[in-house]
Amino acid sequence: MLNFSFHNPTNIVFGKGSISEISNLVDENFKVMLIYGGGSIKKNRVYDQVMDALDGFSVIEFAGIEPNPRYETLMKAVKLAKENNVDFLLAVGGGSVLDGTKFIAAAMNFKLGDPWDILVKGAPVVSAVPLGAVMTLAATGSESNALAVISRESTKEKLHFSSEYVYPKFAVLDPMATISLPQRQTQNGIVDAYVHVCEQYLTYDVRALLQDRQAEAILSTLIETAPELLKNPKDYDLRSNLMWCAAQALNGLIGCGVPQDWTAHMIGHELTALFGIDHARSLAVVLPAVLEHQRANKAGKLLKYAKRVWGMEDGTDDEIVTKVIAKTKDFFKAVGMPVSLSDYSIRPHSFEKIAGRLNLTQMKLGEHGNIGYQEVIEILNLCK
Ligand code: NZQ
Ligand code: ZN
Repeated sequence: MLNFSFHNPTNIVFGKGSISEISNLVDENFKVMLIYGGGSIKKNRVYDQVMDALDGFSVIEFAGIEPNPRYETLMKAVKLAKENNVDFLLAVGGGSVLDGTKFIAAAMNFKLGDPWDILVKGAPVVSAVPLGAVMTLAATGSESNALAVISRESTKEKLHFSSEYVYPKFAVLDPMATISLPQRQTQNGIVDAYVHVCEQYLTYDVRALLQDRQAEAILSTLIETAPELLKNPKDYDLRSNLMWCAAQALNGLIGCGVPQDWTAHMIGHELTALFGIDHARSLAVVLPAVLEHQRANKAGKLLKYAKRVWGMEDGTDDEIVTKVIAKTKDFFKAVGMPVSLSDYSIRPHSFEKIAGRLNLTQMKLGEHGNIGYQEVIEILNLCK
């Protein structure tokens, strides 16, 4: 097992009716900025529950955070929050609203010039305005991690940053708030969580036995519940299981002491930035191709995954690896995901542009650092 340090400070408040707990979670002397997206929280009455809980608090609102939150919009929120001396940010929505709020929190306190540098130059975040979250979409794990992914419309960039200062102080996870999700977003949530686990689990074996079992437990739970949930989207228990799987998939726990490979995410972010493909849908296309391209390096873990998660025993090692990659693709298809770039009319003439944007001259991708420009082109060719 590799060395690690693990500290996750987010207070998770889980369950039916838990939105009312906000009144006990936010300091009553704080001036709060409520941040949300395009209005889904008004249709499903999550907004009303939040406002009821904040009765008596001083609250201003910022609405209109887009899916794949945009820097341009977020900087308007930074201005409004500073003008109003806001002390606390409350994100109510999916991963985009929360990621956007994390950026606002860091940008409000950033003193070293343009806050875009946090994303593009890795400028240090040394403090942030405190924030909390009410999640309405189970997918990203943003509710209890230090990550945010931000897009810049003018340059079509999609970049991430990570800072311990932007961990939410609390995250309210009420599965009832996710029952209104359109099927497409439920599908996205299942696949995003699944791929988060794969990218921490399908690397090489370091005898991190507990982390492997934890990863397998999340994958198995997603496989078990996905078909039922897609048939019964209003089932509270199924919603609860997806919500807890998504949170566990990227809260740092299963990644402790293991090598990781975020290649599918890095390529996927470029596909979203350039072609507007939903985040999870980009992963459904790219992950199987990464596994195929790296099958020799990942063989040990792929065999473990095949045996323990999918119960595959028969055949040579090579045959099992082939079968389990196909099985993974089939699972994504069964969840409702297209799995080829051609499904999005993305043709090979775009591959050089996609690979070129990843800036792979200094640092390559993959758990062995062996995926550079040429390898990304090869992976994209496997996505055709
Ligand atoms: O904007 P509103 O009106 O709220 O509608 C949203 C949005 O259109 C809608 N929605 C959310 N909850 C709903 C609902 N509709 C009905 N009922 C509800 N209960 O769903 C749409 C998509 O929302 P979004 O927040 O964009 O989805 P998701 O949670 O999948 O977040 C995706 C973003 O997170 C980033 C992605 O790159 C992408 O920008 N990621 C963040 C990560 C992190 N912070 O750790 C890791 C991930 O790998 C990922 O990169
Ligand atoms: Zn993801």
